[in-house]
Amino acid sequence: MIWFLSCETSDRHLNTFLGPQQFDLNEVNMKELIKQAAEDLAAAGKVTALTGAGISIESGIPPFRGKGGLWERFDPMEIAHIDALMRDPAKVWTILVKEMKEIVDTAVPNDGHKGLAKLEEMGKLKTVITQNIDGLHQAAGNTDVIEFHGTFAWQRCMDCSREYETSKVDISEIPPRCSCGGILRPDAVFFGEMIPQEALWRSRQIAFDCDLMLVVGTSAVVQPAALMPVIAKENGAKVVEINPERTPLTDEISDYLITGGAGDVMNQIIEKLEQIS
Ligand code: APR
Repeated sequence: MIWFLSCETSDRHLNTFLGPQQFDLNEVNMKELIKQAAEDLAAAGKVTALTGAGISIESGIPPFRGKGGLWERFDPMEIAHIDALMRDPAKVWTILVKEMKEIVDTAVPNDGHKGLAKLEEMGKLKTVITQNIDGLHQAAGNTDVIEFHGTFAWQRCMDCSREYETSKVDISEIPPRCSCGGILRPDAVFFGEMIPQEALWRSRQIAFDCDLMLVVGTSAVVQPAALMPVIAKENGAKVVEINPERTPLTDEISDYLITGGAGDVMNQIIEKLEQIS
């Protein structure tokens, strides 16, 4: 009946008509979209997901942009660009790495991560392409995770390229050094650096091949990661966004946006999918 009433009708009119306690257009839309997403997932053969910092917010890791974002507090060109790292590794270590290490070391997967792992368990999703460097998809149980921007789990020597597990790096001395004397750096992609070749190649291939891409918790403003939903769409896939806010993909590339937090939305989608599978 609600869909019979034209969408132009505003909340206020409908509340007057049906009374506030009986109606919340957003809630109805959300339920419809959750059902749609579950049906689309049930019908899909090759599902993939592109994720961003938003999926880890509920694990206590701040995003980069928007309210409480890291780039609200620090200039990314001052602490996350390769030139800044080469120019003053101690400064980058003191801010970026110390801030990040303490949070990433203690963070655990939330229902958003667990929902994607569940989709893999159900045989629906094979690969997660993530812009995150926190390792939480693997910790949640996903077995094929492309770390598009590298990882924070490892540090690499800038002289001899020897690798060290971050959890074992002694950061009492900043910047920490390799046994060769070289300075260690996170094995993550800094601005001004190339995306790891294999990650880029595989992600393009998977975006090309998939028939449904879930885009979860990314502002979709950083390239070339934000190109993956475009490749998927151009090759006939459905693109479903999960984000509390609209992004440049919304209405342009994504078929629909489910407005909500990753944990809550993934829980509802899985519940609906289990009912219809
Ligand atoms: N669940 C899902 N999404 C959320 C949630 C939530 N609970 N809360 C916020 N978001 C959304 C925001 O609306 C925003 O669109 O998550 C997005 C986070 O955007 P960014 O902070 O820009 O993160 P991301 O898109 O991953 O950034 C891309 O930029 O700084 C570089 O290398 C860094 O990988 C990063 C890249």
